[in-house]
Amino acid sequence: MQDHSSLKPQQDLSLDVLILAAGLGTRMRSARAKVLHELGGRPLISHVVHTAAQLHPRTIFIVVGHQAPEVEKAVRTETGDENVAFVTQAEQRGTGDAVMAAKTELETADSTLLVLSGDVPLIRPETLAKFIDSHKARGATCSILTVRLENPFGYGRIVRDNEDRFMRIVEQKDASVDEKQIREINAGIYCFETGPLFRALARVKPSNQQGEYYLTDVPSILLADGEKVNVYLHDDAREVAGVSTRAELAEFENLLRRRTIRKLLVEGVTFIDPSHAYVSAEAEFGKDCIIYPDVMIEGKSVIGDGCIIRSGSRITNSRLGSNVMIKDHCVIIDSDIESNCGVGPFAHLRMNARLEESSVVGNFVEVKKSRLGRGSKSMHLTYLGDATIGEKTNIGAGTITCNYDGKNKHETIIEDNVKIGSDTMLVAPVRVGHGAVTAAGSVVTEDVPPDSLVAGVPAKVKKDLKSSRNK
Ligand code: UD1
Repeated sequence: MQDHSSLKPQQDLSLDVLILAAGLGTRMRSARAKVLHELGGRPLISHVVHTAAQLHPRTIFIVVGHQAPEVEKAVRTETGDENVAFVTQAEQRGTGDAVMAAKTELETADSTLLVLSGDVPLIRPETLAKFIDSHKARGATCSILTVRLENPFGYGRIVRDNEDRFMRIVEQKDASVDEKQIREINAGIYCFETGPLFRALARVKPSNQQGEYYLTDVPSILLADGEKVNVYLHDDAREVAGVSTRAELAEFENLLRRRTIRKLLVEGVTFIDPSHAYVSAEAEFGKDCIIYPDVMIEGKSVIGDGCIIRSGSRITNSRLGSNVMIKDHCVIIDSDIESNCGVGPFAHLRMNARLEESSVVGNFVEVKKSRLGRGSKSMHLTYLGDATIGEKTNIGAGTITCNYDGKNKHETIIEDNVKIGSDTMLVAPVRVGHGAVTAAGSVVTEDVPPDSLVAGVPAKVKKDLKSSRNK
């Protein structure tokens, strides 16, 4: 028997996907197009495109309108350039009109077209694969994915005849009192054979309460033409629910978050309070990590074995090695922390900050686009920007790399085994040689020779440490 649940590993050249994403989504009460609102840190449209891509269609068409450039950018970020094409619906005159926008590209494609909505983000590729299989197995011209809802308000209803055969879809605003009682609804997910679809669309009229061109008129037109219309009843209503309001978006966020955390608990991550942890579905964890309440882990972060992340910290698109301790209230963005490092409390790492093995950054330290070498420490109240710091170096409290002259950024290089005294200002570009010491309060404007002690404003060499060390 054929396995309907399996996704095909190769490209299916007989399948195209069309995602409707031109609408503004007035109920979001937003200047931003609805499909750009984020769920789990990614725009809604990105979720749908990601799912569609797993079906390996010939082309994914996206109907854009409101904020088309931004929607295109979000899609490109998700997929790269392959197999994606955009068609524009200049004015939003209904879902039928939206599909019509792709007429030139699809009318003669002779493909099966899967139609999805850009605001239905939780639909699973396995469900769609089964739906497409059913469409093909039944030799249908049109298939409609439906679910039964306790509260069907707002959705198009599936009207059947006395023998339970499909007759038509009626929209909420056009439905009679009896039709409003129908619990089976149109999920807005369809398969069409492209030729008959466009021939039927040409006959859709905006003669309804909303004055729109309804895609939902197409199935009954096809039926009247003697074509086969297949109604596919799915059992998971949550999967096909759309986002219309911010309240629904918040519900979805909660659902996704709980699903991710449940999976991580099974995989061996400890959450002190699972209801107060926020972890991206794309994040990866090693074994035996402990996550305290109110931690946010965003984007494609990778957390190694045995890491502890204390309350109030945010980690975005960053990598932690094993046994890293992140104390409370740290912000770590686009950074790389190797094994056995410590960070915080109240530290800020950003723009490719890199902490090498066993190095430590303490409280109120900011590290930007800088590297702290193996076993080095910067424990208190410091700014390290555009700096490269060697091994076993200690950065004293209150140190600042003065990297910006008002126009350009400059680099600071601090070599191995250096001791930077408290309150040192390092005026970049500047290099501090290995084994050197800066006295507290030095303002270092020139390179410091290796193994020397500098002090003062501006700092001058006071002692050759190599000769005194050799005594
Ligand atoms: C539509 C269906 C309804 C179904 C529901 C499922 C129609 C007429 N009705 O309702 O039967 O129960 O979906 O969620 O199709 N869009 C465009 N251009 C437009 C209009 C809409 O691109 O001119 C896009 C929207 O951005 C959205 C999708 O189409 O992604 C669905 O539009 P929406 O207005 O939410 O559909 P409904 O009318 O609620």
